[in-house]
Amino acid sequence: MCGIVGYIGTKAATSVLLKGLKCLEYRGYDSSGIALLNDSLFVCKKKGKIIELEKELNGLSKDLSTYTVGIAHTRWATHGEPSDLNAHPHVSSSGKIAVVHNGIIENFQILREKLALKGFKITTQTDSEIIAHLIEYYVDKYNDFLTGVFVALEKLEGTYGIVVVSRDYPDRIIAARNGSPLILGVGEGEIIIASDASAIVEYTRKVIYIDDREVVDIQRDSYQTYDLLQKQVEKPVEDIDWDIETIGKKGYDHFMLKEIFEQVESVKNTCRGRLLTETGTSRLDGLNLKPEDFSEIKRIILIACGTSWHSALIGEYLIEEYARIPVDVEYASEFRYKNPILTKSDLVIVISQSGETADTLAALREAKQKGVKVLGVTNIVGSTIARESDGGVYLHAGPEIGVASTKAFSSQVMVMIMIAIHFARRKDMSLESGQVLIEKIEKLPQLIQSMLDTAGDIKNIAEIYKNASNFLYLGRGVQFPVALEGALKLKEISYIHAEGYPAAEMKHGPIALIDENLPVVFIALKDSIYGKIVSNMQEVRARGGKIIAIATEGDNEISNYADHVIFVPDVDRMLSPILTVVPLQLLSYYIAVMRGCNVDQPRNLAKSVTVE
Ligand code: G6P
Repeated sequence: MCGIVGYIGTKAATSVLLKGLKCLEYRGYDSSGIALLNDSLFVCKKKGKIIELEKELNGLSKDLSTYTVGIAHTRWATHGEPSDLNAHPHVSSSGKIAVVHNGIIENFQILREKLALKGFKITTQTDSEIIAHLIEYYVDKYNDFLTGVFVALEKLEGTYGIVVVSRDYPDRIIAARNGSPLILGVGEGEIIIASDASAIVEYTRKVIYIDDREVVDIQRDSYQTYDLLQKQVEKPVEDIDWDIETIGKKGYDHFMLKEIFEQVESVKNTCRGRLLTETGTSRLDGLNLKPEDFSEIKRIILIACGTSWHSALIGEYLIEEYARIPVDVEYASEFRYKNPILTKSDLVIVISQSGETADTLAALREAKQKGVKVLGVTNIVGSTIARESDGGVYLHAGPEIGVASTKAFSSQVMVMIMIAIHFARRKDMSLESGQVLIEKIEKLPQLIQSMLDTAGDIKNIAEIYKNASNFLYLGRGVQFPVALEGALKLKEISYIHAEGYPAAEMKHGPIALIDENLPVVFIALKDSIYGKIVSNMQEVRARGGKIIAIATEGDNEISNYADHVIFVPDVDRMLSPILTVVPLQLLSYYIAVMRGCNVDQPRNLAKSVTVE
């Protein structure tokens, strides 16, 4: 996730800003930049780590120590590859305005075209650059910095945390927030603004939390906060009493827990601007498919590794159900060496959180080599898979730091849902069915919250089973891959042996393992095969096995068969994996913590496997 720091005071701004950026490094980024202001505006941006920016600044003959005002940014690419050019701050055409931005501007394409018509020179691929031009346009029009920012904000759709400086107003910084955090640190004769308190605490512990739809006009020793209607808002100054070490995790004990809890937001970000209620479909422009391509595609092959492979399996159920296109799911490592049979009417979609997994990349190259179109679903803009694919979909889930994937998985599932509906609407799905489905999809992020609310109950269950040596996870239909993912999560971080199976397969082997020491997790939602799952549960019970059931809210019968029940809101069965996986993530997390495991960096595992 991108990071913002701004400073106005008496100290040398460069060192305050660089230090601030370093405090935000843990969030993940791919480039950084700085804008310094006195009667001129100096900007420097570099791809890569902050050290690259520092090297560049140190190599200048220019004396930067006299600048006492500036803004800086670490960028985690969403629109446009990581590069010097796409890094922030972005500067308006005349060089007067510099802006750093966190968030996503959804209507940037329209604004880009309008600004180009007005003569602004668009130089980057980002959505953020247009903010600088827009502000310049309105500041010039109204001949006032603050008014110009207010009017520009009215035109923006999407999320933002922005910090702006203007060459014409060298003793001011203006910041605004809508959906992306900003905190103002109030010092003696200096103010520092940042997207995260960790960049502030070295200078002051007195802070003001800027709320959504608020703007703050900052000078060295004063500031004024406004709402978007330009009405002044008085904000309390609060004391930070956090331990600096824990700030990076936003108060959570581990990145994994933070990332599990971020899923309401991350899944929302994945769908942002992509669900089209009116036409009952999804907008996935990055697929780069022409209308005629859709009728030519006779088979889709989904290829991935690890957790991403599980989201591919869910994708298979979704695409076959909604779009009625046959889907094969392949392990990338197997696909690349098996001399796969591919035809012109196949479409390959590779799924990779990191966009760098060696096997997945090799599978992509193999498919391309055989003349097949390959799409990539990845979280990392500008990653090798993103660059080498013919098109694709970014997850926009934000950086995932915990090695065991959680929020990237739910975002991958969301992308699979959107791909399924996209293809379905090109084929047999009616407008009305599409609209009904979109309405249901829109509700999912909020429903994830109700799953997170079960954390206390899950912790209690974890306490009971933390010493188990084996776990079994069972589910049917679209819940089968969720069972696999639940087992993988537990295995990865707690080192407990765990297996996922289609519930009906239990009688063909795993049943031999069942005794009073084997906890079995059933995903047993109320659907057409509920009765069958209940029979499997009874078979486990009869052999003394302990049952943890993930069941549908309002199912009063289930407690007759299970030792513990976690309820899931009653949603469309095909959309439910995005909810049912959450308690399984939490269960693994709590068990691993109770066993004293290193949750964020489990032994022997790597976040991105770039070797075969
Ligand atoms: C590693 C990670 C897993 C991940 C897998 C695939 O094994 O530890 O969490 O699911 O790689 O990674 P990818 O980046 O391609 O999704």
